[in-house]
Amino acid sequence: MPEYETILIEKRGSVAVITINRPDKLNALSSKVHLEGVAALDELKKDDSVRVLVITGAGEKSFIAGADISEFEGKTPFTQRSGFYERTLFNSIDSFPKPVIAMINGFCLGGGCELALACDIRIASETARLGQPEINLGIIPGGGGTQRLTRLVGEGKSMEIILSGDMIDAREAYNLGLVNHVYAAEELESKTFALANKIAEKSPIALQMAKEAIKLASRSNLDEGLRREVDLFAICFSTEDKKEGVAAFLEKRKPVFKGK
Ligand code: COA
Repeated sequence: MPEYETILIEKRGSVAVITINRPDKLNALSSKVHLEGVAALDELKKDDSVRVLVITGAGEKSFIAGADISEFEGKTPFTQRSGFYERTLFNSIDSFPKPVIAMINGFCLGGGCELALACDIRIASETARLGQPEINLGIIPGGGGTQRLTRLVGEGKSMEIILSGDMIDAREAYNLGLVNHVYAAEELESKTFALANKIAEKSPIALQMAKEAIKLASRSNLDEGLRREVDLFAICFSTEDKKEGVAAFLEKRKPVFKGK
């Protein structure tokens, strides 16, 4: 992997970790973070030894405190629009073929919350505070917040979070279905890795097909989604992993999936 300035990459077995590494700026998403993050995702996508990705923020205070507000000055509507139409970290995560877990270790605001929303699973520390405070700056979310948050928590709650700009704590986020689990800060990493390692043992092809099918639920109508699910289910019957999974069950042993 190339050396990056604003992110750290680490591999722990078959789980890769991207850490946004600007703790003095509460890991705010600068344009460099976007560029480096997209490049890192492209590398990790190709690396067969990586089965699951965890994204987190450096330090104990913040996951990601949003877009880097200092870069807003001087931006025209056109540069902002074209920047967000290009490959952002949000859509690179969304289209990443392997499972992505956001390990939310503190402030998860604005673009940080949008980045977490682009991940497949969100796990938060009890100390995390989440929100979409863009409205306080006279703007609205532009990295998917209005769409992904609404799909996850419903229109009423999404309206309240985005229109008030207020932060909510991790427990409330859990009650809304915005995060999957909440753990004490000291347990966050071990619990996140326990889930990541469990998922990493599954067939990478089946994981990819499952992700694609689940994402269709909010992106297509039911008939289309059900038809595509059958196609993706059928594709799994062409893999060695399917043979291995079935054989292991019948032989009463643990399967070893190779991603073939
Ligand atoms: N963009 C750029 N810099 C940011 C930032 C952001 N989104 N969020 C925090 N920072 C910087 C601060 O400017 C400060 O830098 P400095 O030490 O050079 O002055 C540093 O990170 C620490 O932040 P600070 O505000 O001093 O910490 P705090 O504990 O008092 O407050 C927050 C924490 C998260 C409540 C506060 O930083 C905040 O409101 N951040 C902006 C959140 C936001 O609106 N995000 C959406 C952007 S669209």
